[in-house]
Amino acid sequence: MKAVAVTPKQANTVRLVEMDKPKVSDIPNGRGVLVEVLRVGACGTDREINNGEYGIAPEGFDFLVLGHENLGRVVETGENVKEFQKGDFVVASVRRPGHSIYDLIGEQDMTTDDDYFERGISRLHGYMAEFYVESADWLVKIPPAILEIAVLLEPLSIIEKGISQAFEIQERMKIWRPKTAAVFGTGTVGLLTSLAFRLRGFEVHAFGKDKREGYFNADLLEEIGATYDSTMEISVADSVKKYGEYDAIFECTGYSPIAFQAMEALNQNGVLILSSVTGGDRKTEVPADKINQQFVLGNRLMFGTVNANREHFEMGVKDLALSEAMYQGWLKKMLTHKVEGLENFGKVFDILNNAAANKAIKVYFEVNKI
Ligand code: BGC
Repeated sequence: MKAVAVTPKQANTVRLVEMDKPKVSDIPNGRGVLVEVLRVGACGTDREINNGEYGIAPEGFDFLVLGHENLGRVVETGENVKEFQKGDFVVASVRRPGHSIYDLIGEQDMTTDDDYFERGISRLHGYMAEFYVESADWLVKIPPAILEIAVLLEPLSIIEKGISQAFEIQERMKIWRPKTAAVFGTGTVGLLTSLAFRLRGFEVHAFGKDKREGYFNADLLEEIGATYDSTMEISVADSVKKYGEYDAIFECTGYSPIAFQAMEALNQNGVLILSSVTGGDRKTEVPADKINQQFVLGNRLMFGTVNANREHFEMGVKDLALSEAMYQGWLKKMLTHKVEGLENFGKVFDILNNAAANKAIKVYFEVNKI
């Protein structure tokens, strides 16, 4: 079968490779599910891996099959799989258990291992292939009504984890009724985060680099009742003068200095969620005393979040359905660029590398028709 792969740590090596079709019996204990891949999304992480900045090949291979945002159809199940049947639609999660105690209880998204296993990213092949096989434990069933947008479930799962953990951590107070949220970053993750906060009734203020004029992502934000401002036109500090301090802030720009500006925009008892995987070595000067004092005197909180476990995917399924109920057709507008066939990987990476010029939000392969 065909797959799209790179040589990790070397720039621009994305190519088509030929691999054996996986078998249900590759997974122990009769728990294997063979899945025909329908759609695979491409994101900044795939771009960074193809730039040679990130990614590790599986043991015994000198290449890594890319792809972690996925949607597929079950074609065969092992004898101990009761929860899926041929024809079911599924999305697979990304991280697989390593060795820490969290990994052993299905919370590998909270692993304390330094060497983690992520399909399409680190030490495991991904889903940019015609088929994959996986244990039923790591698959989530997709209701037919949300199939068209289900390739957005994996990025949404990251947000579901961040927001649900924020609420869990905020149980440090007897009562926390947040009203406003700021979202820094207005790409796929920023848009999905703004949506997730709107679905929870927040007043949402989103910030990106692009000017408002002619920026499609800003149109989308306004459609769901969020505001959009360009950080080129208003500073984070001035945004606070305009909207007040934020009860919750979600940072997903990929630009780390913003995290420190966000720290200064947080309300008392508020929570700042950091989700950008920033691979560089950027430095910035910060008003350290002021930020530190504000955090102490205002009981403010900041935490980092990565990846997602199966509950977060399940929460995401519900939010995809709720979004269709509240803002019908909105998520589909995020699927701006469909590329048919794995052999057209060059097109996907061209769009990904020039996302702004292409006005691309989500670019994805259609490997097989739904
Ligand atoms: C993926 C996550 C992954 C993270 C770090 C993101 O692009 O969506 O599943 O944990 O990269 O590798």
